[in-house]
Formats: sequence, structure tokens, C-alpha cells
Amino acid sequence: MTNEQTLILIKPDGMKRGLMGEVMMAFESAKLKLVAAKVVKVEESLAKRHYAMHEGKPFYERLINFIQGKKYGENRILALIYEGEDAVKVSRAIVGATDPEKAEPWTIRGKYGRRTTDGEIENVVHASGTPMEAKNEISLWFKNDEIWKI
Ligand code: CDP
Ligand code: MG
Repeated sequence: MTNEQTLILIKPDGMKRGLMGEVMMAFESAKLKLVAAKVVKVEESLAKRHYAMHEGKPFYERLINFIQGKKYGENRILALIYEGEDAVKVSRAIVGATDPEKAEPWTIRGKYGRRTTDGEIENVVHASGTPMEAKNEISLWFKNDEIWKI
């Protein structure tokens, strides 16, 4: 067991649908501690740095546009850092599988994610995949003095 921080983003579909409270409640129930939070307008450069590992994949262009809010005219994102024992793994379990149709029904993506009629995934939240990803992503989204020290 290691004490970790992880980055959670409520994506534009989650913001547009007013799911911020639901998402945060799930993390609170798991006893993870909120140590940073802010509403962010995602610029293209940040979108590209955040999803750099997916460059060249078939869904990349759509993902970069989607995370910037181009699809629904909703460009707010709620960026959150949670801290706790095994925070990355615990958060991924709360969030569920990438594809909402494969996500367990009690997870955030299982409850609220969807595939659009054109087959695109809208899965409401991002959660860092590994502790290494979490470290990199946190440094992209937050300055050190924006993060609560516990
Ligand atoms: O978000 P997660 O780590 O579960 O999945 P990923 O493989 O890192 O992919 C990042 C994001 O790309 C997903 O959350 C989806 O929004 C999107 N994606 C997609 O639209 N279609 C796919 N086949 C795979 C991912
Ligand atoms: Mg990922």
C-alpha cells in the first residue's frame, strides 16, 4: 500500500450533464482525500500534452476536440486531485472500464458513460492509469502551490 495522488477530470460531457456532484460523491465514499480542485478551460496545447500517448490512434483527433468542449459548446473541465492509499488503482475501480458498455454498472462510466449513435465513447471522467501517468498529468494540470499538503 502506498500513499498516492491521482488526477481526475470531469470531462465536458460530465460538466454539461451536471454530474460533478455525483462524481465527487463516489470518491468521497471511497475515503480518498481531495487535495486540489479547479475549473479549467482546456486549450489545445494542454489537450495534446495530456493525451500525447494516444497520438496517431484512430480516436485521437476526436478526443482532442472533445476534451476541449468543441462537441457540446462546453469547454469547462473540473480538474481534481485525490490522495490516499493506492489512490490510482482505487480511482480506476470507481471510474470503471474505458468503454461504458464494458464498465461495471456500479462504476461512474457504467452508470453515466455512453456510446453515441456514431460509435464514439463519452465516458464522463478521466482517471490517471498508473502512478507514473498520475505524476506527469498532475504536473501538467496543477502548479505545486495549488495542491494541498497533507
Ligand atoms: O481513459 P482511459 O485511461 O480509461 O482510456 P485510454 O485508453 O487512456 O483512452 C483515453 C480516452 O480516449 C478514453 O477515456 C476515451 O475518452 C477515448 N477513447 C475513445 O474515444 N475510443 C477508444 N477506442 C479508446 C479511447
Ligand atoms: Mg488512460
